Amino acid sequence: MARQPSTKQLCDWDRKYLWHPFTQMQEWEQEDPLIIEKGKGSYLIDTDGKKYLDGTSSIWVNLHGHRHPTLDRAIKKQLDKIAHSTFLGLSNPPAIQLARELIRIAPKGLTRVFYSDNGSTAVEVAIKMAVQYWQQHRPQAGSKKTFLHLKLAYHGDTIGAVSVGNIKLFHSRFTSLLFPTVEADPPYCYRCPLSLAYPTCRMACLDPIERIIKERHRELAGFIIEPLVQTAAGMITAPPGYLKRVRELCTKYNVLLIADEVATGFGRTGKMFACQHEGVTPDLMAISKGLTGGYMPLAATLTTEEIYKGFLGTYEDFKTFFHGHSYTGNPLGCAVALANLDVFQREKTLARLQPKIKTMARLLQPLWQLPHVGDIRQRGFMVAIELVEDKQTRKPYPLEKRVGHRVTMEARRRGLLLRPIGNVIILMPPLSTSLPELRRMVEILRGAITTVTLLPTAG
Ligand SMILES: Cc1ncc(COP(=O)(O)O)c(C=O)c1O
Repeated sequence: MARQPSTKQLCDWDRKYLWHPFTQMQEWEQEDPLIIEKGKGSYLIDTDGKKYLDGTSSIWVNLHGHRHPTLDRAIKKQLDKIAHSTFLGLSNPPAIQLARELIRIAPKGLTRVFYSDNGSTAVEVAIKMAVQYWQQHRPQAGSKKTFLHLKLAYHGDTIGAVSVGNIKLFHSRFTSLLFPTVEADPPYCYRCPLSLAYPTCRMACLDPIERIIKERHRELAGFIIEPLVQTAAGMITAPPGYLKRVRELCTKYNVLLIADEVATGFGRTGKMFACQHEGVTPDLMAISKGLTGGYMPLAATLTTEEIYKGFLGTYEDFKTFFHGHSYTGNPLGCAVALANLDVFQREKTLARLQPKIKTMARLLQPLWQLPHVGDIRQRGFMVAIELVEDKQTRKPYPLEKRVGHRVTMEARRRGLLLRPIGNVIILMPPLSTSLPELRRMVEILRGAITTVTLLPTAG
């Protein structure tokens, strides 16, 4: 077997041959990349053997820690059978069993599973299903092809997902490619678009949404929403009851509710799915990320029997959902996803998470005192810390100052890996993180924020 190249060699080749996502490569090329070779539990280990706490769960995917024996074993076992066979015209045991399990744990009323590979495709599938459903189910309602979504929404990077997204920095270059949508203000309480305060506002931000739905329901195929938390927007957390009200409005005006649980699903918010906090069943639900416990790229779009039936007919009716990917229903991905759900049950992951959520809140409490911490938002095991230049006026740091980035680089030096969203620091560790590890993470985070925001260049 060829000898493993040295760290230096790998760094050189990385800079020479690669193009990393969401990365200014000109800057990347000037620094030594951190190259992760191994992992164990809550830790990632680089090619020089240095250990880092995984504060982002490897971008919000890992749940039970790295190298979990049950998950490792599931992949190895499946590999002894087959790595992949197509799902177009064929089926496979793990994909069938996983679909059954997903329906068992999903919000009641979701009965069908359509697989794809990542969060963006799961959203694309939901959008396309909604449009085709209305065409076939109610030809007279053929004009129902527009989507309502929230500002600052993020549903992925493919063109359909970007069309229903609204993060200017990421999306504005592609405006000419996007289909038209209808946008509404999000429940961003810290920077309330109506300049009101919760709870006295009585969720007045829902009024314009009701008006839009009432006026435009004839053209609205669906309302796509990240339930409870708009994660990539910097973890904007909706007040209790918001999602339920959205569900009521969608039902009343016959607009499909599409829940994008790509980030919130699989325990992140403290329940298996965010929708379950408010007893909501969406018409379509996109899942990915935690689906495989952070092991393999796999996604699914779940839907109701009502929508599924809208696609039935003889072949020549051409009601088929003509969508699929080469790796749809991949047996390795489905096998490890089944093991992931098994671990949830056997290790009582959700029950054991509840005290950790409380501890997290307690540990974060003192950070409110820091002079540049404007807001701390927590929902379950998802945390965002919004850093501001001026706490009184809530004036944000100019993006050029890269305060979020500098905090995460400082945290990295101290042994914690994080990824910022502008001036917002996201902390989303694996659900299996132990209390001492959690304490260490918050301690490092606090130190990094203090160091960076109190440096003269930051203020
Ligand atoms: C809510 C939400 N939807 C969709 C996506 C896209 O998922 P992927 O990166 O797997 O395409 C993300 C990714 O962060 C997300 O947070």
